[in-house]
Amino acid sequence: MNSDLAEIQTAALAAIESAPDGQSLEQAKIDFLGKKGRLTAASGLMKTLPKEEKPAFGQSLNLVRGAITAALEEKGATLQEVADREAIAGIDVTLPGREIHSGGLHPLTRIKDDAIQILRRMGFALAEGPEIEDEFHCFDALNTPADHPARNEKDTFYFDSGKLLRTHTSSVQVRTMENQSPPVRIIAPGSAYRRDEIDATHLSVFNQLEGLYVAENVSLADLKGTLVYFFQELFGPDTELQFRPHFFPFTEPSFEIDIKLHIAGRAPKWIEVAGCGIVDPAVFSAISKSRGDEAFSPDKVTGFAFGMGLDRLAMIKWGIKDIRLLIENDTRFLKQFA
Ligand code: PHE
Repeated sequence: MNSDLAEIQTAALAAIESAPDGQSLEQAKIDFLGKKGRLTAASGLMKTLPKEEKPAFGQSLNLVRGAITAALEEKGATLQEVADREAIAGIDVTLPGREIHSGGLHPLTRIKDDAIQILRRMGFALAEGPEIEDEFHCFDALNTPADHPARNEKDTFYFDSGKLLRTHTSSVQVRTMENQSPPVRIIAPGSAYRRDEIDATHLSVFNQLEGLYVAENVSLADLKGTLVYFFQELFGPDTELQFRPHFFPFTEPSFEIDIKLHIAGRAPKWIEVAGCGIVDPAVFSAISKSRGDEAFSPDKVTGFAFGMGLDRLAMIKWGIKDIRLLIENDTRFLKQFA
């Protein structure tokens, strides 16, 4: 073999062998095999050789290139192995992994989302209003006279200013009609507050979902069809519900809706989940007065309204026996919904 080539090979193998890291190894590769490397330069000699020496020289070149390439690969693998070993030094790979906790939606959020989805499919749009309300929007405009028990300090949280924590989401009916024109078809989920005695089915803050549909010729049949469809979509086609005649100042006629609550190990019982009815003309008169126009004149429009308790719906859906579980944030309870 050409002695220059032999010398290049020896030098290359020595440089590769002594390379302390990947960077020096890369440098060795450039020094010998790169465009301006020593082996590349030596291969230029080919041109100067007599014809009969060319094949042997070419063969030698290939052998040297092969030897250097193999040495580079081997050294590269060794350096990588060392680097890998250093990277995991001190890590005990036999330790058990850390558990990754998966989150989940709260049952109240789930029931609210389900309810909204069904009602939006029926053409109801979302609306909202403030939780700190005035008496006009919570009571007066809803045909609730000053001496009505709901307006008593014993039942409602009043502020010194005379404002109050809304006792129902029905105030959003009023705010919507003040600002939109018929036809109006809205739903308004949100918190409501009452000074209720706290027990397994009552909290002083709970969640309602209000609905209002106002147009020409809206009937009781529309109300019943909408709500039967809604509850059977939410709880399944076998859901038993009853419309029980009731009184609300802002609807006439009015009903309460009860649904059969099934809890394993207990006798099924009817539980009230919603109030509803045909909007009382007195409400439309109050709106007309407040707006100063006839858009909602009781001679022109009719409507139905409903307000349901989302906490109770969650209790029915999952057979939850105590409403307080919904606000205690006990992960043993919440985990079941994750
Ligand atoms: N606002 C009533 C309540 O909180 C429910 C209701 C809403 C009744 C709309 C009739 C119409 O009990």
